[in-house]
Amino acid sequence: MVEAIIVGAGHRSLCYAQYAHQHPEQFKITGVVDPIPDRRAAVQREFGLDDSMLFRDVDELCTKPKLADAIINGTMDELHVPTSLPLLEKGYHILLEKPVAISLKELNQLRAAQEKAGKVVMICHVLRYAPFYAEIKKRILDGEIGRMISLSTAEYVSYHHFATCFVRGKWGNSVDCRTSMLMAKCCHDMDLVSWMTCGSKPVRVDSFGGLRWFCRENAPADSGNHCLRDCPLVDSCDFSSKRMYLDHPERWASYVWPEFDYRKELNTPENRLAKLMEPGNPHSCCVWKCNNDQVDRQSVIVDFENGCVATHQLIADTCRADRRIHIVGTEGEIEGFMSQERFVLRKHDLRPGNDYTEETIDVKVTNAEGHGGGDLRLVEDFIARINGEEPSISSTDLCDSVIGNQLVFAADAAMFGKKRIENFDSFCEEQA
Ligand SMILES: NC(=O)c1ccc[n+]([C@@H]2O[C@H](COP(=O)([O-])OP(=O)(O)OC[C@H]3O[C@@H](n4cnc5c(N)ncnc54)[C@H](O)[C@@H]3O)[C@@H](O)[C@H]2O)c1
Repeated sequence: MVEAIIVGAGHRSLCYAQYAHQHPEQFKITGVVDPIPDRRAAVQREFGLDDSMLFRDVDELCTKPKLADAIINGTMDELHVPTSLPLLEKGYHILLEKPVAISLKELNQLRAAQEKAGKVVMICHVLRYAPFYAEIKKRILDGEIGRMISLSTAEYVSYHHFATCFVRGKWGNSVDCRTSMLMAKCCHDMDLVSWMTCGSKPVRVDSFGGLRWFCRENAPADSGNHCLRDCPLVDSCDFSSKRMYLDHPERWASYVWPEFDYRKELNTPENRLAKLMEPGNPHSCCVWKCNNDQVDRQSVIVDFENGCVATHQLIADTCRADRRIHIVGTEGEIEGFMSQERFVLRKHDLRPGNDYTEETIDVKVTNAEGHGGGDLRLVEDFIARINGEEPSISSTDLCDSVIGNQLVFAADAAMFGKKRIENFDSFCEEQA
């Protein structure tokens, strides 16, 4: 039985904590750390916690002797490393949300602390555990496409997700949230890029992108500043808070009305409207007149030591959210869209009348499984690691999870600095 304390009792931590309900014989939530009393109370009710196991912050928890085996750290990005360092020193294993860190310096601090403590730190790069990506990785390791030549991935961020989280929402301004768009959204994809290339080292990195659409100059001529107070387009604009949120209260609700996650009785039409009418609520601000600076498109190119060239495209404002992957090897190729829960494996075929063989591999998961089935498979693997089992092929142990984050720092430096990173290793050393 692994006992865990939640640090940061928000939307992500509670997803992982569901494993305790599904497998009470393996995993138990025994405490919570969160500055918001209502959040602590909600976790206490859900998991039947003792009053003595509720803490305002990590400092308060760390004044006690070690109280559990592990921590689920689902704090916001800039708190990941500062909260994890004292917990490692105290001897906890940590399941840490992505991104690992908000700077290369912090990344190295965490690695050093983990090595010293000798504890398991696993990063929530949940896509590695989604059957879609895990099966692709298995096929690569089995040598099915030969030596990898080219890897291209793309993430399509839907117009409503982008507007809610990366224009209006808590990742809308990179200075305030301390992470770039590429880090906030595509650290998963850059992690997949490094994981799929199976140990080859990045050598050079370049990147282009920018914010072109959600800027003041693109606001419709007659638009107001506040969707619900002064905008004549409230019933027609695709980004209207009324149409996007009030008419679809389930859409991105944890971001638009986070307090109703833990005060469910307050989730009424009147209260939802009242929240959006509160002064300063970003979710009713005109989407072209926010304090946002995150890019809405970015392409990254990575040249690997083994000759493989990888590209990743982040494309915001799409109709359909999805992820795409196309890997070409010396003997075959793999191609698929994650949303379709299947991919194709093609191989050369020179028999008369043929070009290639094509096998479709189905990787279905149920609708209820978050991140294509990755969320709870990750928790299962975390528990296995704590119990001393061998790392799985998806394992997101810290030592195996940093390159993706380093690639994001390098890509952003190249894009913002308009200068290619010619030596990835030197870049990482200089910035650390
Ligand atoms: N793995 C994924 O696919 C994925 C998806 C979305 C978000 N995330 C990441 O998960 C993390 C959490 O995101 P979220 O949407 O769940 O956030 P959230 O705001 O719902 O939860 C964060 C919680 O941390 C608490 N908190 C604030 N300061 C704290 C402190 N000093 N100590 C302890 N708790 C503190 C907040 O009160 C809140 O309850 C972010 O880093 C985000 O980037 C990961």
